[in-house]
Amino acid sequence: MEHITKSEQQTVDTAATWAKTLKPGDIIFLRGNLGAGKSVFARSLVRALVDDQALEVPSPTFTLVQTYDAPSGPIWHFDLYRLKKPEEIYELGWEDAIGEALMIIEWPERLGMLAPQHHIDIHIQSIENEPDSRMIHINHIG
Ligand SMILES: Nc1ncnc2c1ncn2[C@@H]1O[C@H](COP(=O)(O)OP(=O)(O)OP(=O)(O)O)[C@@H](O)[C@H]1O
Ligand SMILES: [Mg+2]
Repeated sequence: MEHITKSEQQTVDTAATWAKTLKPGDIIFLRGNLGAGKSVFARSLVRALVDDQALEVPSPTFTLVQTYDAPSGPIWHFDLYRLKKPEEIYELGWEDAIGEALMIIEWPERLGMLAPQHHIDIHIQSIENEPDSRMIHINHIG
């Protein structure tokens, strides 16, 4: 599935609509370059699922994970940019979350061999000469 968004708000709206298809245990990989819009997309997912548009959803840049309680179940939002080696995820409670929580993972590349096979891949790409546009690819893998 492909979406082209022409503004940050359109990406927020796309994510909020798509959030309705998600269920606990789903694992979402959010891929794309620095500044692609992974955190914008993740924040909109969390706000839609918790049903609170004003909810603070900080990038877990240093803590690597931030958890939320949604009516549908727990949400774990990872930003693994600063993960030094894949095995470090076990220190974050990874095994408790797998299969139970909805997992939203920025920089899933950092998981290396520990990356779950079965996941939903979201790739956000910028578009040349259109600084406020993005191409968003969503694919179910595994
Ligand atoms: N169509 C768009 N969709 C999403 N973000 C957009 C769009 N157009 C412009 N932007 C801007 O791009 C930036 C995306 O930032 P964001 O923090 O979400 O990126 P990121 O992929 O999480 O980067 P990082 O890898 O550094 O965490 C924001 O400043 C946002 O305003
Ligand atoms: Mg980010």
